[in-house]
Parts: sequence; C-alpha cells; structure tokens
Amino acid sequence: MKERFYVTTPIYYVNAEPHIGHAYTTILADFMSRFYGMLGYDSYFLTGTDEHGDKINQAARTHGTTPQEYADRISGIFRQTWTDLGIRFNDFIRTTEKRHVAVVQALLQRVYDKGDIYFGSYGGFYCVGCERFFTEKEMVDGACPDHGTKLDYIEEKNYFFKMSRYQDWLIGHIEKHPDFIRPERYRNEVTALLKSESLEDLCISRPKSRLQWGITLPFDENYVTYVWFDALINYISALGYPDGEKFTKYWPVVEHIIAKDIVKPHGIFWPTMLKSAGIEPYRHLNVHGYWNMQNAKMSKSLGNVVTPADLVARYGNDQIRYFFLREMNFGHDAKFSEEIIVDRINFDLANDWGNLVNRLCNMVFKYFGGAIPPFDPAEPADRDDLTVRFRKAAQDYIGHAKNFQTSIGLEKLWEYIRYLNKYIDSNRPWQLAKEKNTARLSSIIRNLLEAVYGIAVLLSPALVGSSEAVLRALGTDTKPRDMETITAFTNLDDGQKITDPGILFPRLERGVAENDDPAAKKEEKTMASPEGVVDISEFAKIDIRVAKILTAARIDGSDKLLELKVDSGLDERTIIAGIAAWYAPEALVGKKILLVANLKPATIFKRTSNGMLMAATHAASDRPILIEIDDSIPAGSKLG
Ligand code: MSP
Repeated sequence: MKERFYVTTPIYYVNAEPHIGHAYTTILADFMSRFYGMLGYDSYFLTGTDEHGDKINQAARTHGTTPQEYADRISGIFRQTWTDLGIRFNDFIRTTEKRHVAVVQALLQRVYDKGDIYFGSYGGFYCVGCERFFTEKEMVDGACPDHGTKLDYIEEKNYFFKMSRYQDWLIGHIEKHPDFIRPERYRNEVTALLKSESLEDLCISRPKSRLQWGITLPFDENYVTYVWFDALINYISALGYPDGEKFTKYWPVVEHIIAKDIVKPHGIFWPTMLKSAGIEPYRHLNVHGYWNMQNAKMSKSLGNVVTPADLVARYGNDQIRYFFLREMNFGHDAKFSEEIIVDRINFDLANDWGNLVNRLCNMVFKYFGGAIPPFDPAEPADRDDLTVRFRKAAQDYIGHAKNFQTSIGLEKLWEYIRYLNKYIDSNRPWQLAKEKNTARLSSIIRNLLEAVYGIAVLLSPALVGSSEAVLRALGTDTKPRDMETITAFTNLDDGQKITDPGILFPRLERGVAENDDPAAKKEEKTMASPEGVVDISEFAKIDIRVAKILTAARIDGSDKLLELKVDSGLDERTIIAGIAAWYAPEALVGKKILLVANLKPATIFKRTSNGMLMAATHAASDRPILIEIDDSIPAGSKLG
C-alpha cells in the first residue's frame, strides 16, 4: 500500500483578496503535496475559504451586498488565483457549504452531549477585526492593540466550550510528541501559554440578535457558532468526517500549515476540540513566519499589499515559487523585496541552473548532433564521485523538504548544481572535442545529462513548468521514482534525441525591477515619523495641485494600471495610476483631480510616472476614490 500524505492550508477569510502571504502558504502546501507525490506517496491537499463571522458580515455591508454574495465573489477570486498560479489542490472547502455545516453541527452536538459545552454569561470588550473579546488589561488606551479601534463593552449570554478540562492532557500530549507543533519556538509558545495560566473556557457562540451570519447551534437556534469553532472543523469536514473514506485514509497523516498569527487557535482550541469529540489529534502543526515588507507586517490597513497575480505576471510562476520556497527559512520571518526576487532569478535560476541546462544541451547538439551520448566505462570521468555527491545532495534535499525546510533543501541541491558547472569548467569539454577525445567527452556529457535529469525530477515540485520542459527536452518525464532510481545515473537512453528547451529563465535587469517595486512604493506611501505626526514645514514640502486629465489609456500586460496625461498647470506630464480596476479610462478624461506634483519620478512598467493622483480609500475596502475638484478651479491651483 502506498504511504499517504495530507496537507492543509488555513482557510482564508473572504474579507480581502489573496495577497502574497496567502500565496506563500498555498504554494508551500502545493510544493509539499507535489513533493510527496514525486516520492510515490498518495498525497492529498486541501485549501479553501473561511466565510462566516462578523468580519465577513461587515465587509459585505460595506460593499453593499449580502454576506453570501460577497463570500461567493471573494471565494471565487481565491479559487481562481490558485488556479492561475498552477496550484493543484485536491479539494477547496467553503465553510458555507452544506457538507461543512452538517459536520460542524454534528461535532457540536457530540461535544454538547458529552457535557463539554455549557451556557453562561460573558462580558468583555469586543473587536470585530480580531473576532474576539479583550480584557481591559489587553487593550491599549481603550482600543484594540492590533487594530487601534475603540472597543465597546458587550455583555451577553453565551455557550462555552470547557477547554480548561483538556489543559493537562494537552500539556502531556505535547511533552510526549515534541514535534506536535514545529518548529520548536512555536511549540514553546504554546507550552508557555498552557503552563503559565489556567485556560479559560472558550466562548463558542454568538447570539443571533447580534450576528446571524454563521452556523446555527444544533442545540439552540437563537445562536450561531463562533467562527473559529466553525472554521477549524474544515480540516475534517472536507474529508467527510465521521464516516468518509477519505477521513479514514488521510486524517492520521495530516500536516497542517499555518503562519505564526494563528498558533493559538490551532495549537490550543483545535486539539482540545478534537480530544473532546473523541478524534485523534492532528499529526503536526507546521508554523511559518511572516513575510514582511521592509520590516513592517504586510496588511491591508498598511496599504502595502502586493498581489500574487501581479508578481507572477511580472516574473513567471516558477520564479515566484522558487523565490518563496528558497527565501523563507521555515519558522522565521522573511523579507519580501523585488530586489531579492530579481537576484534569485538572475543568480540561482539563470546563472546556475538555467545556464547548466543550456550549456549542456548546446554541447549535445554541437558535439553529438543532438543525440544522448553513451557512457564509456573506460573513461568514467569521475562518475562515481558525481553520483556519490548527487546522492548526498538529494538525500539532504529530501530530508529537509520533508520537514518543510525548503530553503535549506534547495540550497543543498544548488550546491550540487554549482558543482556541476565547475565540473564542466574544469573538464573543458570544448578542448576534448578539439582533441577528438570522444570517449571522455561522451562520458562527461552523459554524466551531466543524467545529473540534470535527476535534478529536474527533484525540482519538479518547486519549478513545475520548467522542470517539465527540461525533462521533455531530454525525452523523459516526471513519473514518481524512488530516490535510488532518480540518482542512479542510468535513467536516459543512448541515442535518444534531445530538443532545445530554450532559455529557461531570462535574466532580468535589476534597476527596472527596483524602481518598479510596488511594495516599496506602497511602503513610501505609508511612511510617517515614528510618532505618526509631521511638522508643518514637512507638510509644506509636498506640492499638491489641481490637475486636469487630458488622456487615459490602459497599459498592456497590466490589469491594474492606467497611463494618464495630465495638465498640472506647470506642464503636461505622465502619471501611472493603479486604478484600472475601478475607473474606465474614457470616464476620466476631462476630470479635475488632485496631483502630488513633486513626487520623485518612478519607473512603473517601463514608464516614468511623474507624480501621484490623490485618492481616498476606506479601511474596509481597497477601492480608491479619486478626489475630484470642481471644474471652476483652474489647473495648477495649489492646495495648502
Ligand atoms: N480564516 C483564518 C484561518 C482559519 S483556518 C481554520 C485566517 N485567515 S487569513 O485569511 O487571515 O489567513 C491567515 C493566513 O494567511 C496565515 O496563517 C498565513 O498562512 C497567511 N498569511 C497572511 N499574511 C501573511 C504574511 N504576511 N506572511 C506569511 N503568511 C501570511 O486567519
């Protein structure tokens, strides 16, 4: 029987569209699923969307729509984004689906019947953004420590889950299974929480008088389920718990992936819920760090969100997958910067791996008419050394990747790739060709081809499209094979014609991408002095003027940007504005708007943007609304 692997991502809230943080987790899960598939496992991958609760309800209201319509739309965008990114999930669960609702209700009933749910009273300061109550001690100046919004005191009757009953069990379970939560720092975080305080029981309901958008409690129709108690159950409802075949097959081998923001619900609520319901705890909770934009957390309210689709359109799918998997050291935070993306593409992908493949294929064409040369045992050309090194590199890669340490794993493989490039340089095949030393030349080229084959197979979960292109060029495929076979140097056929895979990873110019960095630009927009205030003299430096839009056009290859010509009263200039999703170009012509006229020019999509249009964006929406000025005010009028 095949071994099994089951990987999950958090189900994402549908109050915002996918950003790179979501994309990273999903790409990592996709990598893990493909990786185990490559090793011959029966691999299952679940993702989805979290659609109930106050947050979604409010977002829908802000957008003037019903929660269901709103959830349908945003969930659709998540699904489509993953499809566009080539994510191969086996199931996409939505918490508004009947199959999920039924399992949540069955599980609640079970926990209730067991006596682990009771009716009580609760008072506290509630934050809609966090979906939780805060104590006075936790608040900062009467406001939410995360969102800064003033919190109201709410007192209500609710249902509680006796989480405290399972505190000692959970401490013991973690002690017995030290890698239950990994890496260690997050296990320590949970253990510290568990040991430092007695767990409070978890409030698992919301009265319908306050919120209707949720799953009705099976034992009291006046209440809906707290969104976390509902959401966590997705990991088993999607498998058809309790009787589904998939539940029996995959639950015992589940690997949850989350980021550090949701360790508590996954590390404490979820295992105690499972224990109460009589379900085996999950196998591992794998926790990664945060992608930070220039040391600030990426979030919608900070306005520094970069969309995954933009990145992939600009750099390519494999390139972005590689960047994510290589650049984040699992468990730690990582810095998101397009400069680093460009460097990784140029150095690792183009110079090391792409170059190895290209120079090798060129030599096969040049010296062997495009046919794979045989290995000549009389001239092994360090074949044994190469295979030993390869086996070690592959073992390291596999070992680390199995533990979600993709960055270290890829680096191990890259050490070998770089070694192969040196092997070419030191063996000087061009010299051997000149000397007509065909035996040694054939062996060298064949050794390299076998190594490239093996590397392409190992890399196929990460570099999905380009690995397939390499294997196709070598006349072979990515069928699952065991490690022994992959590294055996006996996988290709003598005389097989290869084809030209072309340039796998075109080199990029660093400067273009640097100026083009939307993350950096958005960061600039949100920059303020540490105290958050500016001096009048600082404000006076900003030249804001009324300008008239003369022409507006879409930019090929971008669905976000418009190219505008404006009359600033000082000159006629070009502005690149990220408003294409909300404004039709023709509707803009003739409008008078506000322009930041002395902004440092920026290169965006190879065009120079001279200034910025001013728009207002409400915190609950990402829609910028241009500030329009009455036509009677002449272009060039200064604001201030
Ligand atoms: N709906 C809950 C999860 C319920 S799971 C039963 C939720 N949703 S979320 O949309 O806020 O997604 C949070 C997850 O998105 C993180 O745990 C992580 O996987 C990913 N990330 C969001 N921002 C991120 C970064 N800046 N960096 C890395 N990952 C990030 O919480």
